[in-house]
Amino acid sequence: MRLLVCGGAGFIGSAFVRRMLGKHPDWEIVCLDKLTYAGNLDNLLPVADDPRYSFVRADIGDHEAVDAAIDASGGIDAIVNFAAETHVDRSIAEPEAFLHTDILGTHTLLEIVRERGIERMVQVSTDEVYGSTDEGSFCESDHIRPSSPYSASKAGGDLQVLAYFATYGTPVIITRGSNTYGPYQYPEKLIPLFVTNALEGEQLPLYGEGLNIRDWLHVDDHCDGIEAALLRGTFGQVYNIGGGNERTNREITQIILDELELDWNTTVRQVADRPGHDFRYSISCEKASRELGWSPEVEFEAGLRDTIRWYRDNAWWWSKIKHHTEEFADWRNRWYEDRPDA
Ligand code: NAD
Ligand code: DAU
Repeated sequence: MRLLVCGGAGFIGSAFVRRMLGKHPDWEIVCLDKLTYAGNLDNLLPVADDPRYSFVRADIGDHEAVDAAIDASGGIDAIVNFAAETHVDRSIAEPEAFLHTDILGTHTLLEIVRERGIERMVQVSTDEVYGSTDEGSFCESDHIRPSSPYSASKAGGDLQVLAYFATYGTPVIITRGSNTYGPYQYPEKLIPLFVTNALEGEQLPLYGEGLNIRDWLHVDDHCDGIEAALLRGTFGQVYNIGGGNERTNREITQIILDELELDWNTTVRQVADRPGHDFRYSISCEKASRELGWSPEVEFEAGLRDTIRWYRDNAWWWSKIKHHTEEFADWRNRWYEDRPDA
């Protein structure tokens, strides 16, 4: 199998590249990534010298550049698309890049699959497209009701994918994953932000009361779910990939404080809430279990504590981002500096 992994220098994409090269000796992976602020070749250092891996810097919305990358690789069998703008808060501050990549970039890849007769494409999507629900869990046939510019852009990508299947029979599959945690996650998201802030003696900016609920999934389980969809998924179908670990943000924060032996009152600052903050995400993964034979395996609290220790032991990785890139400093100043208390 020769795979084109788009967005493979980000958090989940790089985990997928590392994990699939480890699991499949006969796979070759071409990683294509624009290297936005969230793309990081340090994430791919463990496979940098593997002859089955190569890297191309390109934008998925640049048709000619993606074509050229495929030609140079000698052709590919499948595309897995992780490439996206992914941070909800940034989509609130500046939505345009989300439309460019998450909708138009996805459309460009679909055109390339269609023109070249590529055998299959997996579009990596998110549980956020269903929107928030106070009770029950969404299944794949439920209507989507995204509420942030990020999730609306991802939903736009999903609708393009499904329209290409219906109209042209394009061989596409969608996965909708839940909140993912693990090593190498850019430290703007809840868990790596809070862990690295805590390690540096900075406050943890908890939005509102911290009662919002997310379903947490270990990155290895997420990668295995995407692999199962790639190998065993049915074209035109959507598969939910969730962890089955619904926790409030307060509960996540408390585990981080416990592991690092810190005190809530001196470490946590409740700050003004995220606008349009979805209260709870919840998905049913029965279809993935039944049709793909996939279920999550990592026990949540052990996985989270391992992850916290990874950030503690790998400060070289995140301190480069936090202290030596303008993008991180600009974002922190813009989003957090003048933020009022809750
Ligand atoms: P990330 O932000 O860590 O990485 C995104 C990657 O895409 C980066 O390497 C970036 O450089 C690249 N990229 C962005 N725009 C690009 C473009 N136009 N062309 C080529 N490359 C581009 O994201 P992540 O958390 O690894 O998420 C990967 C995918 O999984 C996304 O599609 C996201 O919507 C989805 N997802 C993420 C989560 C989560 O909790 N992190 C959960 C469910 C689904
Ligand atoms: O559900 C899947 C989605 O999960 C992915 O599609 C997104 O790419 C990914 O970013 C994530 O979105 P969330 O908005 O849920 O993740 P985030 O880490 O930004 O926030 C998780 C929760 O923590 C959310 O309720 C907001 C809260 N939060 C977040 C930050 C950054 C805080 O309380 N304080 C913060 O500083």
